[in-house]
Amino acid sequence: MGYSFLVTTAIPEPGLQILEDAGRVTVLPEPPGYEELAALCASGEFDVVLTQLRDVIDAPLLQKARVRGVSNYAVGYNNIDVDAATRAGVLVGNTPGVLTDATADIAMLLILGTARRVVEADRLVRDGNFHGWEPELLLGRDVSGSVLGLAGFGRIAKATAKRAMGFEMEVLFSPRPPGDRPVSDEELGEFAGKVKQVPWPELVERSDFLSVHVPLNEQTRHLVDADVLARMKPDAILINTARGPIVDEAALVTALKSGTIAGAGLDVFEDEPRLAPGLAELPNTVLLPHVGSATVAVRSEMARLSALNAVAMAEGRVPPHPVNP
Ligand code: GLV
Ligand code: GLV
Repeated sequence: MGYSFLVTTAIPEPGLQILEDAGRVTVLPEPPGYEELAALCASGEFDVVLTQLRDVIDAPLLQKARVRGVSNYAVGYNNIDVDAATRAGVLVGNTPGVLTDATADIAMLLILGTARRVVEADRLVRDGNFHGWEPELLLGRDVSGSVLGLAGFGRIAKATAKRAMGFEMEVLFSPRPPGDRPVSDEELGEFAGKVKQVPWPELVERSDFLSVHVPLNEQTRHLVDADVLARMKPDAILINTARGPIVDEAALVTALKSGTIAGAGLDVFEDEPRLAPGLAELPNTVLLPHVGSATVAVRSEMARLSALNAVAMAEGRVPPHPVNP
């Protein structure tokens, strides 16, 4: 043994312990800037680098990198140029599965929170403006009986569908928007006969809640743009727990201001941690700081998986959760 690991930001246990058992661990005191990270990766001092979503691992960095692997502490890996990593012979790992339920919980929370105006309601109470029960105080929308449209039908979308069915929503989905692909009953599994596949344009037009569950790539960047927003129902609500750039956030602000759609629940932003101008002032939004996977148990599991990936890559093995095997 005696491998060397670079950890760009401290992760929970048992992650660090697993790495320490396999070698030497360097945890940076602060998240590195791009140049610093590029220099560290090129130094030849580290076998594997354990990265966060905010670490940009692009082609120029990878060309000079002298590491065997990049272990991303996340299920998504849009911060990494995977093709460039493959060309450079650098393995990439991620942490799928363990954050599915927690993220679907946040999608459901945003559906309920936007429908029932939870942020406005909480603020009203704290501001001392609750003067007793009123027949028309903060009237919201019914979730039961409404139509949930899932853009994407991967693990998190399916877990969201399961929750939505418990709330008696009608669930529609488009598996690969803006395109399409057939989904067999076998793939539908327990959802066969309970959720309905529709083409993307129909999903946009029929959803009361349109929830985004696709990976970010060149096909899905600005999937929800001004055009799509204009085709949504005026009382529809957009939910995004996936990646900010899937939605044109400036166009969303315009649509929310003008009543093109009724509201938005967002856990991710186009240019995190910055918000599009005007977004924070809109009352018809619920805005969360990218906390889909943020439970004690889930973050610990992510730490474990990312550490196991890192150790395997240091040993020259394909990691348990490979992105580019
Ligand atoms: C979080 O956004 C993740 O990809 O794990
Ligand atoms: C994440 O785990 C997904 O594939 O939806």
